[in-house]
Amino acid sequence: MIATQQLKGRDFLCLSDYTKEEIYYLLDLAAKLKHEQKNGISHPLLAGKTLGMIFEKSSTRTRVSFEVGMFQLGGSALFLSGRDLQIGRGEPIPDTARVLSRYLDGIMIRTFSHELVQQLAEYADIPIINGLTDLQHPCQVMADFQTIIEHKGKLEGLKLAYIGDGNNMAHSLMIGAAKVGMNVAVAAPEGYLPDKGVTDQTRSFAAQSGSQVLVTTDPLEAAANADIIYTDVWASMGQEAEQQERIQKFAGFQVNAELARVAKPDYLFFHCLPAHRGEEVSADVIDGPNSVVFDEAENRLHAQKAILVATMA
Ligand code: CP
Ligand code: NVA
Repeated sequence: MIATQQLKGRDFLCLSDYTKEEIYYLLDLAAKLKHEQKNGISHPLLAGKTLGMIFEKSSTRTRVSFEVGMFQLGGSALFLSGRDLQIGRGEPIPDTARVLSRYLDGIMIRTFSHELVQQLAEYADIPIINGLTDLQHPCQVMADFQTIIEHKGKLEGLKLAYIGDGNNMAHSLMIGAAKVGMNVAVAAPEGYLPDKGVTDQTRSFAAQSGSQVLVTTDPLEAAANADIIYTDVWASMGQEAEQQERIQKFAGFQVNAELARVAKPDYLFFHCLPAHRGEEVSADVIDGPNSVVFDEAENRLHAQKAILVATMA
């Protein structure tokens, strides 16, 4: 049993900081908030509270879902562009953290360096929520898990195959899956495999939850018998200059009908979006009957509202 107060004031930087029970608590809360929202039951749990949203990278889903989420919870959200803030001109993160803590009730930040977000969290005395770094994208995984539960009724024991770049998305899925007892298989080309530290962490969480972890360079091995096939862009934000080189290196790692044939017949296709049809995924898969990418995108709203309520209410 998670006490309502247990998550209050906590940062949400990486799923490694949360127990299996806490993750399920947030998923249950997300389902409850979604049900209430769909049925016109208002829930002004953050009335009078303000979330600052710092963006040093582009965003469609994260920005809109956090802003709408705060509005639906009776609070407000402030969009803060890294270009306009004084951090863009060199104001130290510790000073920024302490100043913003005097005005705001929480901060969501999307930036490059994961260490910068950790430093912000160290000096701020309000919750810091990771809206994506080069290393992790944990809010997306909460929405993904909510979507899997809606379609499959559970997480434990399912096999999630991630095919493509061993990036922030792969890292957060690996850690999340290992925490909740889901089997995870990642296939990436040599040189683009997931971070070693994250892989080691995943294996140690998996040993506790009893899930299996496979990291391979063979997409067919990873996708075999999968319940979920997940992919993401081959060139993430900040890697635009490598785009052409990556298209060549990742040939053979496209999620298409041929690869999907080795998964379970009722497999679900996931992509955090934005997607590049014809690169990491074929149009017939992402726009086909097994794809749940827009449910996933919608659930960003509900899953993040749960995180906001649990940490800030
Ligand atoms: N999936 C995701 O985080 O989307 P945005 O980059 O649009 O926020
Ligand atoms: N890996 C992608 C995810 C975008 C939501 C990126 O970092 O650009």
